[in-house]
Amino acid sequence: MGFDTALTKALGIRLPVVQGGMQWVGYAELAAAVSNAGGLGILTALTQPTPEDLRKEIRKCRSMTKNPFGVNLTLLPSLVPPDYAAYAQVIIDEGIRIVETAGNNPGPVIKQLKAVNTIILHKCTTIRHAKSAVKLGVDFLSIDGFECAGHVGEHDIGNLILLNRARQDLGVPFIASGGFADGYGLAAALALGAEGINMGTRFMCTIEAPIHAKVKQAIVDADEADTALVMRRWKNTTRLFANEVTKQALKVERESTSGEFAEMAPFVSGKRGREVFLNGDIDFGVWTAGQVIGVIHDVPTCGELLSRIEREAVGAMDRSKALYTATPQSKL
Ligand SMILES: Cc1cc2nc3c(=O)[nH]c(=O)nc-3n(C[C@H](O)[C@H](O)[C@H](O)COP(=O)(O)O)c2cc1C
Repeated sequence: MGFDTALTKALGIRLPVVQGGMQWVGYAELAAAVSNAGGLGILTALTQPTPEDLRKEIRKCRSMTKNPFGVNLTLLPSLVPPDYAAYAQVIIDEGIRIVETAGNNPGPVIKQLKAVNTIILHKCTTIRHAKSAVKLGVDFLSIDGFECAGHVGEHDIGNLILLNRARQDLGVPFIASGGFADGYGLAAALALGAEGINMGTRFMCTIEAPIHAKVKQAIVDADEADTALVMRRWKNTTRLFANEVTKQALKVERESTSGEFAEMAPFVSGKRGREVFLNGDIDFGVWTAGQVIGVIHDVPTCGELLSRIEREAVGAMDRSKALYTATPQSKL
């Protein structure tokens, strides 16, 4: 017995669970652990300072797992954009044929990757963007609901609606992302028509995630109200862990009379956020987490986590099936 979805079939994985790209978290240690546990581990290309560093990380990951793994390439607005084509070329040259894309104007990179038949999982937060990605020939959509960590988009649509819309309208297989942490969520996503789930925050809270233990503990201690949305004023809304710096940043965003992003920039520095993961001072800078922090209560290995997810999902699906019976007991 095992899962048999469009995702498991296309990627050659045992469990329909993907570890989404995570800046400063998606290194070989985590991706290999997820893949070894039967899911799809993903390296985050831009955690590597150069394309050549990404090549080394791919080789490192390959030495740690015999199972399929992928690479995330995120295209975000930037004054000096990274050389995305060079990163994509390394991905191609190293024989990686599963890529998670995300962000703005992915067309050229998707074209480059599809030329060698790469399987593309494109992540987006609206059905409109999903439809544009379908036109670009992506293989799977990763539908990132409002619950998710990081860039939530500007429409604030939760996954109960987004996933239903994806099933009704897309005509391309999709996976559910944002707010998933366990097998109950996986069973729910499959019931809504998804082929699997994508998780970020839950994987931060595993033994193999290469971040400081105090960050993992902060997630375990938090509840679902401990995130905040910043940068809405600049239409770049991002969900962050609601620590002291995030609260200061929000205050500046609300109170700034100039409306200049420059006033906000020092508070949302990515460099300081990276330091948090290294030094464990959770208030040193801003860092990303999803509302799912409310349902994360431990720090298991990826193997333990994925076995539990499988067990729970099967139990939840059995329970749902048993609720529809030939002999209902209702007295009405
Ligand atoms: C610390 C962190 C960093 C992230 N960085 C990226 C990134 O660089 N690119 C990307 O496409 N998604 C990024 N994400 C989003 C995840 O891939 C995933 O879509 C999201 O976490 C799903 O929501 P969840 O956290 O509720 O599982 C990040 C998430 C976290 C928690």
